Amino acid sequence: MVDLHSHVLFEIDDGAESIEQSIEILRIAYDAGIRKMIATPHFTLGEDVEKMTDRRDRRLRALKDAMEHEGIEIELKAGFEVYITDELFNEEELHRLCLGDSDVLLAEFKYHGLKREVFIGYIDEFIKKGVKVLVAHPERYSYLINDPMLLDALLSRGVMLQVNGISLFEDSEEGDFARFLVERNLADVIGSDIHHPASRRLKAMKKLGEHPGRNVIRALNDTPDKIFEGRGV
Ligand SMILES: [Fe+2]
Repeated sequence: MVDLHSHVLFEIDDGAESIEQSIEILRIAYDAGIRKMIATPHFTLGEDVEKMTDRRDRRLRALKDAMEHEGIEIELKAGFEVYITDELFNEEELHRLCLGDSDVLLAEFKYHGLKREVFIGYIDEFIKKGVKVLVAHPERYSYLINDPMLLDALLSRGVMLQVNGISLFEDSEEGDFARFLVERNLADVIGSDIHHPASRRLKAMKKLGEHPGRNVIRALNDTPDKIFEGRGV
């Protein structure tokens, strides 16, 4: 299993609070069947790319050393979960924010009230700059759940969707939409979005990995592995 969405790096966002917590998360991830993982700390367009990338890479190096010491065999790379705002970014900077060595940007949007034209405008801007968009947890955006035209517009532009594994077990509108996306084979990636060791998010991933259907295998392993390895999707 390949997890492209995690807040496993310590002291950088609202995820792991210490290197010990990072290690704990990684142990649980290994037990869940995850062998490749991308650390995706939150990043808001407009922040200093250089500074944040340096900070992230220092944490990544420290964590990899600790993992080696602890014997945890997960291949770990870095990316960001980028919160999209009206800030315009140059092409080079956007590519530095992508997942691992890929040209795929894990993008998070406003949870409520984002206008359809604005969302589509962002996507067109990224396409122009050669960046492929992987939308983080589409099931969380209330305006998207209720707007099949927006969903069609995104899919026709080649946008990919990353559903949170835990959403598939939720009895809510979010859960219904997440299951709809998987059933229709529209969820390209299922990720954990793990923040803390005590969370149930990795247990949900484990459960999904135990009896996966065809669509789930594609989203838990095949497509995320292509992105992880920087192969085309
Ligand atoms: Fe996240």
